[in-house]
Amino acid sequence: MSLPTHVKLVEVGPRDGLQNEARTIPAEIKIALVDRLTKAGFRNIEAASFVSPKWVPQMATSADVMAQIVRGDGVVYSVLTPNMQGFDAALLARADEVVIFGSASEAFSQKNINCSIAESIDRFRAVAAAAKHNGMRLRGSISCAMGCPYQGTVSLDSVADVVARLQALGCDEIDIADTIGVGTPHQVQAVMQRAAQEFPLAQLSGHFHDTYGQALANIYASLEVGVAIFHASVAGLGGCPYAKGATGNVATEDVLYLMQGLGITTGIDLDAVVDAGQFISQHLGRKAVSRAGNAIAAARLR
Ligand code: HMG
Ligand code: MG
Repeated sequence: MSLPTHVKLVEVGPRDGLQNEARTIPAEIKIALVDRLTKAGFRNIEAASFVSPKWVPQMATSADVMAQIVRGDGVVYSVLTPNMQGFDAALLARADEVVIFGSASEAFSQKNINCSIAESIDRFRAVAAAAKHNGMRLRGSISCAMGCPYQGTVSLDSVADVVARLQALGCDEIDIADTIGVGTPHQVQAVMQRAAQEFPLAQLSGHFHDTYGQALANIYASLEVGVAIFHASVAGLGGCPYAKGATGNVATEDVLYLMQGLGITTGIDLDAVVDAGQFISQHLGRKAVSRAGNAIAAARLR
């Protein structure tokens, strides 16, 4: 199969990237980051998360962020909503897309959202119906699709089962997430192909964390089987509070560099993303975790 000619890149840095930072990041910084990403040309930015502030304190300013960002025309701003309380906040915040997030692993489901997979789907039912009723896009995310920090192996059938349940809820897009970055290319292809038996391939996305350094290889492997939506995090920010040791998502700058080299269009300005990566990394007081981003920034100084 030839590679897709266009890829949709969902920038998840402001949510997945920042949620795990120990030091509180002021809302103004998050807003400035989202605005920079909007200007860089992203059509979909995961901007915030309406979850319990006791569970994820960093996301407590989500309503402020959503209220003050400068929205781009037609840009989809997504937020995480684990239940109706989250959905109500998302509606008030004028989110364009809500994300219900489940897991292919029972153990991770309990740790992350405090319920079983079946209970989570029951909770999501009301959120999904409310999203449809209000004309919002609905995305489903499946954690631990390549392996779980608590139970280890996750079978293809357990991923497929959650894909089918999320499809039944009416998801417009479903993320296959390697939460702890353990997947390798052939495994990723097998999971994507199995998921595509339950849900249209064109609406499946790859959400890869780079813990074991496999994320770019996994993206390439996914392209080979026709996946054309990927998540990435500017400056490689991130990690999940309920997946200890997991590093950030694959860095957006690295993915863009790969896409440019492959002649795949994204509509996103790599230089502007490098700037956004340097901006947030300076604020966090550390170097960006993006090879391409740092190389491009260094080359500018020559
Ligand atoms: P719970 O304790 O079972 O919920 O948590 P509850 O309904 O019993 O409520 C307990 C308290 O939480 C109450 O407050 C509620 O008001 C409050 P209290 O009366 O104690 O003061 N509460 C909320 N507050 C604000 N917004 C809400 C909300 N819901 C309840 N929406 C719950 C269940 C799901 C809420 C909790 O477990 C939670 O918030 N978990 C969030 C976990 C999370 O955000 N994890 C990171 C995101 S997932 C991720 O990163 C993976 C992903 O990137 C893909 C991948 O890489 O795998 C997507
Ligand atoms: Mg993630």
